[in-house]
Amino acid sequence: MRAVRYHEHGGTDVLQVDEIDRPTPAGGDVLVDVAAAAINPVDTYFREGSYEPATLPMIPGSDVAGTVAAVGEGVTAFEEGDRVFATGLGNDRQGTCAEYVAVPTDSLARLPDSVDFRTGAASALVGVTAWQSLIAAGDLEPGARALVHGGSGGVGHMAVQLADATGARVTTTASPTYHDRLRDLGADDVFDYGRDDLADAIAAAGQPDVVLDHRLDDYLSLDAEVAASGATIAAIGNADLQACFENVPRCRGKALTVEHVSMFNTPDMGAVLDRLAVLMADGNLDAEIAHTYDLDGIAEAHRAVLEDSYFGKLVVEP
Ligand SMILES: NC(=O)c1ccc[n+]([C@@H]2O[C@H](COP(=O)([O-])OP(=O)(O)OC[C@H]3O[C@@H](n4cnc5c(N)ncnc54)[C@H](OP(=O)(O)O)[C@@H]3O)[C@@H](O)[C@H]2O)c1
Repeated sequence: MRAVRYHEHGGTDVLQVDEIDRPTPAGGDVLVDVAAAAINPVDTYFREGSYEPATLPMIPGSDVAGTVAAVGEGVTAFEEGDRVFATGLGNDRQGTCAEYVAVPTDSLARLPDSVDFRTGAASALVGVTAWQSLIAAGDLEPGARALVHGGSGGVGHMAVQLADATGARVTTTASPTYHDRLRDLGADDVFDYGRDDLADAIAAAGQPDVVLDHRLDDYLSLDAEVAASGATIAAIGNADLQACFENVPRCRGKALTVEHVSMFNTPDMGAVLDRLAVLMADGNLDAEIAHTYDLDGIAEAHRAVLEDSYFGKLVVEP
């Protein structure tokens, strides 16, 4: 099969397309004929070596959607021909930017017939991250308010829809060009993250009970300033390594909780994907696809995911 691989860590130039053996599914795994994979910033962290993948050479890519081509020993929940989607690969297992990938069944769910493969792949990692942040960490309830920083991003646009589907009120931040699309997805209040009075605007819309923060070094103090008493800040990312609170007594006074969320630590990935599948089948959740690449375009996709501004997700079709 054709597979993107890196044999050493480095820039996008270490990515190459190799002809390698199709994997054989081990016990508890299924072999997926890949229809679509998706690109995430974390793919570049593994490639660069700031997060260590388990082995080299490595196939990048966490997300996949496709058809079960074979099942390993002991697999009864899935059979050949099932439409599926999965995430959490490309880390301690080989990734998804290939024609076939072996996937453990606990990272897998059925993809509804009404959801195309590109949308399935695009929704998986970011959908699970949004779920683990807003629902698992934040206990988001109907009528509560969520603040989603960076609503136009992969995680952000799923989080806006998930919060809205939960019956919460949604505040989000984004570049002005994306504001109308975010309102269409269910955001109640949308603010330019570049405005000087951002904290005042967010607070005036309503103090958030749950905050999804993808740039802790920029926003942790703002989160504490605007949050409601008892709020949870779900912390998923940062641009610089360090982030701190400017006013710790205020955090204590509000009894704030910071939960660090890693999608890769999700205890039952398949169960969360099952819920996302229901939301997608019912038309309450959709992943927007900004660009699609083939395997030969992977270096450009890895560049774009960090450098370009776009709404939603980048997808790879092998
Ligand atoms: N912990 C986890 O499990 C987990 C899971 C997924 C992602 N993450 C991390 O979360 C971050 C976002 O991931 P993603 O997949 O959503 O990335 P993405 O699709 O590249 O989205 C990034 C978003 O951030 C916005 N942004 C840029 N500068 C900003 C600023 N100063 N203030 C607010 N928003 C800003 C971008 O908008 P513009 O287009 O306007 O620049 C874009 O909407 C990454 O750091 C990623 O590594 C963590």
